Amino acid sequence: MVALVLCAALTYGCQSKSTQNKSSETVVDTLANTTFESQIDGKEVKLFQLKNEKLTVTLTNYGARLVSLNVLDKEGKNTDVILGYDAAKAYKDNFNNYYGAIVGRYGNRIGNASFKLNGQAYQLEKNDGEQSLHGGTNGVYNKVWDLLENTPTSVTLAYTSPDLEAGYPGTVKMEVTYTLSEDGGLLIDYQATTDKETVLNLTNHAYFNLNGAGDTSILDHELQIDANTITEVDANLIPTGKSLPVKGTAFDFTKPKAIGLHIGDENAQLKIGKGYDHNFELDKKDDFQHVASVYAPKTGIEMQIYTSEPGLQFYSGNFMKDSDPKGKNGKVYPYRSAFCLETQHFPDAPNHPNFASTVLKPGDTYHSKTTYRFSVR
Ligand code: BGC
Repeated sequence: MVALVLCAALTYGCQSKSTQNKSSETVVDTLANTTFESQIDGKEVKLFQLKNEKLTVTLTNYGARLVSLNVLDKEGKNTDVILGYDAAKAYKDNFNNYYGAIVGRYGNRIGNASFKLNGQAYQLEKNDGEQSLHGGTNGVYNKVWDLLENTPTSVTLAYTSPDLEAGYPGTVKMEVTYTLSEDGGLLIDYQATTDKETVLNLTNHAYFNLNGAGDTSILDHELQIDANTITEVDANLIPTGKSLPVKGTAFDFTKPKAIGLHIGDENAQLKIGKGYDHNFELDKKDDFQHVASVYAPKTGIEMQIYTSEPGLQFYSGNFMKDSDPKGKNGKVYPYRSAFCLETQHFPDAPNHPNFASTVLKPGDTYHSKTTYRFSVR
């Protein structure tokens, strides 16, 4: 019965328990014992499954978010590498951890929850002390998106954010397409238009653990980021406007290094972030290029990141708590048991004219692309 109900919820590739092939256990197992769907804000919340030989991915239209991402490890064992819940209601109840969601209208922080555009001041919601984080509690991650298109390997979701929603000017029409590629890639393609000048900075807020969601730590993961500088932040995690060189510091990931190796170093920026919670300023040469990789020795799973964005927020799960509500299949997600690598324009760019602009004008199209590509070694 459970399998049947879940099959009704999934659009593609659903198998009943009895016909499942052991060597390719997929999301049907990951989300067993639940009926995920429900209504939020009077709209149907659904699940969509994308599948090819390398990946099985489940998404929901609530926050256009990734719910599970299954890959095979070096022993051929199915491994769900992202954190999440097995019911829409759990996502709603815990909306402010942003698991797997598209965050915005402005991903990351805006200082004093305000900015000026063409001389006009805009006041946003303060949902992080005096700052605005990820678009505030009325952000796009907390909205039910519409389904535009779904194939076995891609889904396009759309949301129209009305003028002044969450304090941001302009009616913004956004579309996000997730597409699987045969080389183990998950491409996230963002497009948006506006009818009034505004600022926009969308990203995906997946929490990864390449040993499998629920594994106790990510400190053994080896991380490499093509960045020679980070954006310095003040005590509120708001950019000071200065870039800091990573050379000779805990922030030097120009060569692969275990996340845990220097996370406990005496370093003023690490102290402020309670660990890593910083924008890495990417050494970009091309519009869309490789910028980072993460490798988990235990499972052999490797993730490569390609993006069109100039920045990458590396967050090492410092605000996660052992007592946080349990995730999929009753798993506990302890302190620092996941990391986020969010491709983005720099935090607080609307208040820093020296940062790459996040202004979107009527007639222009916002376009951003990121691929997370999985393999084993
Ligand atoms: C931010 C963190 C925040 C986390 C979850 C990250 O993007 O940089 O400071 O705690 O999201 O909200």
